[in-house]
Amino acid sequence: MLLRASEKILKDGTKILIQRLEETHHRGAFTCSRHPVLADFLNKHALQNANLGLSRTYVVTLPESNDVIGFCSLSNGSISPKVLPNEGKGLPRYDLPTAHIGRFAIDDKWQCKGLGGTLLFFALEVIVDASERLAAYVIDVFAKDQVAADFYMHNGFSPLRDDALHLFLPMKHAKIALAAAKSVE
Ligand SMILES: CC(C)(COP(=O)(O)OP(=O)(O)OC[C@H]1O[C@@H](n2cnc3c(N)ncnc32)[C@H](O)[C@@H]1OP(=O)(O)O)[C@@H](O)C(=O)NCCC(=O)NCCS
Repeated sequence: MLLRASEKILKDGTKILIQRLEETHHRGAFTCSRHPVLADFLNKHALQNANLGLSRTYVVTLPESNDVIGFCSLSNGSISPKVLPNEGKGLPRYDLPTAHIGRFAIDDKWQCKGLGGTLLFFALEVIVDASERLAAYVIDVFAKDQVAADFYMHNGFSPLRDDALHLFLPMKHAKIALAAAKSVE
């Protein structure tokens, strides 16, 4: 299980750590000018929600620092099969389980350096690992705006039928992407 800190290396050689948010992480300096509500969530709600069992937040730091420079929050969700592109043909009529990316943001100073892609890949690793024990048919996310939607679509997500900003990635596609990445490591 991916519970310990995971070390990753960005394209420019920068080492980062990704791990579960803890009280000791410094959240106050995190800024997201496009969506300040995301920084508010990190500061005011992320730990409390984890304690309540509502979501798990994973944070990115540099190895020698406790300053949060990116984070994502994961939980379980559900969707109607009717919102899938093929309207859920061949699937049961009841709601389908999803792994839900609830919040996702990179600090203003760290955007466009490969951190978002690295954190998204980490989130897929956590989700695929968890899905071996707790099934989820797809991974879904509500993008905050079209720019964020384009980021997810660039990384393999597709729109659902209920909302242009509601996006999904089939779990089997996530597994294939992770297996392909492992085979070139
Ligand atoms: C959207 C966001 C998460 C992207 O993070 P980032 O660190 O800037 O993205 P990266 O540099 O890691 O980019 C990863 C890949 O996605 C691509 N990408 C990044 N933003 C993109 C966009 N808006 N549209 C299309 N592709 C995009 C990059 O070109 C890169 O492609 P490559 O792997 O083929 O080289 C970040 O800009 C952010 O936090 N925005 C504000 C908050 C927000 O909107 N969060 C999402 C809420 S749902």
